[in-house]
Amino acid sequence: MRLLARLIGWLVLCVLLVSVFSSYYQVQREKRDSRKELSKRAEVLADSLQDNLERLLHRHNKAELQRLAQRFGNKEHLLGISVYDRQSQLAVTPSLAGRIAERPPVLVKAARENDGRGQFLRLEGVPVYYYAQPLHDDEGGVAGALLVVHDASYISTAQARAWRDMSVRALAQMGLIALITVVMFQRSVVAPIARTAAWMRELRNGRTPGHSGLAESDVLKPLANEAHNFARSLAAARASAEHEARLRADGESSWTAQRLAISLRTKLRGTRLFVISNREPYMHTRQGKTLQTVVPASGLVTALEPILRACDGTWVAHGSGDADRETVDPHHRLRVPPEDPRYTLRRVWLTRQEEERYYLGFSNEGLWPLCHIAHTRPTFRAPDFEEYRRVNAKFAEALLSEMAGVEQPIVMVQDYHFALLPKLIKQARPEARVGIFWHIPWPNPEAFGICPWQRELLDGLLGADLVGFHIEAHCDNFLETVDRVLESRIEWGRRTVNRGSHTTTVRPFPISVVFPEAVEETGRKNMHAQQAELLNGMGVEALYLGLGVDRVDYTKGIVERLLGVERFLEKYPQYQEKFSFVQIGAPSRTNIKRYHDFLEEVQATAERINARFRRDQWQPVIFRARHHSHAEVERFYRAADVCLVTSLHDGMNLVAKEYIASRHDEEGMLVLSPFTGAARELPDALIANPYDTERLADAIFQALDMDPRERRQRMRHMRRAVQQNNVYRWAGDLIGHLCELRVEAPAPARSRTAGAAAGAESEVAVEELVYQLHDPGALGGGSHQVNAVLHGG
Ligand code: G6P
Repeated sequence: MRLLARLIGWLVLCVLLVSVFSSYYQVQREKRDSRKELSKRAEVLADSLQDNLERLLHRHNKAELQRLAQRFGNKEHLLGISVYDRQSQLAVTPSLAGRIAERPPVLVKAARENDGRGQFLRLEGVPVYYYAQPLHDDEGGVAGALLVVHDASYISTAQARAWRDMSVRALAQMGLIALITVVMFQRSVVAPIARTAAWMRELRNGRTPGHSGLAESDVLKPLANEAHNFARSLAAARASAEHEARLRADGESSWTAQRLAISLRTKLRGTRLFVISNREPYMHTRQGKTLQTVVPASGLVTALEPILRACDGTWVAHGSGDADRETVDPHHRLRVPPEDPRYTLRRVWLTRQEEERYYLGFSNEGLWPLCHIAHTRPTFRAPDFEEYRRVNAKFAEALLSEMAGVEQPIVMVQDYHFALLPKLIKQARPEARVGIFWHIPWPNPEAFGICPWQRELLDGLLGADLVGFHIEAHCDNFLETVDRVLESRIEWGRRTVNRGSHTTTVRPFPISVVFPEAVEETGRKNMHAQQAELLNGMGVEALYLGLGVDRVDYTKGIVERLLGVERFLEKYPQYQEKFSFVQIGAPSRTNIKRYHDFLEEVQATAERINARFRRDQWQPVIFRARHHSHAEVERFYRAADVCLVTSLHDGMNLVAKEYIASRHDEEGMLVLSPFTGAARELPDALIANPYDTERLADAIFQALDMDPRERRQRMRHMRRAVQQNNVYRWAGDLIGHLCELRVEAPAPARSRTAGAAAGAESEVAVEELVYQLHDPGALGGGSHQVNAVLHGG
């Protein structure tokens, strides 16, 4: 309240000062104008009398002069006139007789200077205006003078009135301002703060109140945003604490964001976590004047984002959005997530050629089909691999500069885009703990053997201290490939590879998703309401909803899935006009012809099936070929009676786990391909071979026709599996394992003491890499140190 009083005090003072100054100026101006007008009037009167008076003066007609003087008195502020010859007063208006001096100084001055003269003065204490005009004889000499006397008191009266009006006006203004200030302050500050205090009290008492009330005031908006973030974090922390307590009571232990954060803090021992992937977690794009933030469709992003949030690390990734450069600082960094910054994203820029050859070419036309074995022939081109090397070195350079000054950092390299990176990093920073996680399958040695650069890739990967895959089968395939291709000592029981003084451990870490807690459920619609709303929105009438969610990729078995849906409608016609299948398909890598053709193939298959079965408002297949936000996909997950994951080959497949994690209602059923990593953890799903169309059709029928109790029981088991093995466990296990490995001391030639040497080493390495990046020829020669690294020397 003191603040309010002070505010009002200042406002009133300001208004008062402005009023006083402006009124003073106005009053003075009016006074000047009135005086000017009065003197003008006196002058005009004197001029009009002059001829007449000079004639009477010449004749010494005193009686006539006195009569004239009598006529001018007391009208329009005129007090009267007085006429003089050279010696004495000849005539005077009676009301002035005896009141004015014998010869007032202004009269003397006018006669002396032979010109009209005026003067404001006081007569018996009353303000008056004297105007003296010389009167002439026939020769033009001064024979006498006329004095015109006006009452000037009305000017002071007007002045006083103006001051009084001003005071009243200022008072009214000040009162109004004070009133408005009090009301505004009350409404925009006091009331929202009072409401927020009540809101915080509710929050403290464990309830989840709606709105803080701060947002209604523009001034307090930043505070409101922070308060809401704060409330969200508190609610999440509380939910997770409750959840842990529940699990402890049930004798179980599960991983939560908090537990991961604490575990990472202990394990990182003050050092930092660095993650490198090709795909970035937040892309900025421009839509006309507005900047949009897109979270790309990527299982890798889905899994890693919560981990970076939990430990405030640095994520190095390709800046692929068309507005990405607009949103970074001069060091190419930004804090993300944009609405609640928790960690650093460092963007690396690629040229068009680098993107074409390293990303589209070697990574996605070579390694992707090579590892997936989904009947698309891998394409290997030497220039693509050359670019792959160069881009690996470019990312190594960026990462090493981010790591400068950080002692014993933990580095998690992600995926098949960076097989050469682990060795580059270890070479420069031997004391860093480097892990690489391969998010896609690793095929058998025969299949991998067709890659012309398999030695180099394996050598790069074995630079890591830890190599992770989703499942044991991929670890075994990898070890067998190493065994066939490189000189090494493999300990099969411990799954380690020894080469020289370096040991690489190979382990399965089944990746997963966040398992949201039930506390978020409040206010959610049930499956049928959600389903009706979504189908309505798409203009389709149906009773059952099937769902597929994928990047449009030939490994995902989307066409096989649609054939399964077609066969299902054919074999179980009672579901015609009742069952609709929604395929959400994020277009992906469409610059590659195979992907472009595949998108068209899916489209054509959907259209063919629709043309065959469609009736009135019912449509069997709805293909939504566009990017969907996580929230949009969630709505479909919650509405679907059955979700089909029919990959021809998949490292894990997180759609299967996301669908299960979304089903708090324990409804819905999952049809799952046995060729996914997820199938090993989810035996309660309906496992169906996507190449077996008949089986797929039956699985859809089984899912819809299943006894509700059995369905719920299967869903409950699957939910428990995903809850137990959530993404925090994955990260905790993976990073925990990496932190516990014994990392060999750097070789004597490179080491001084670990920390100091680390900085110096990294500088040398960064210089080398820069040299190599700017001198492509260096890659071809065999003598260069980094070149040797890249070539497995
Ligand atoms: C797979 C890969 C990821 C990749 C994602 C999306 O999940 O393992 O590394 O990010 O596909 O593909 P994209 O090429 O769009 O990044």
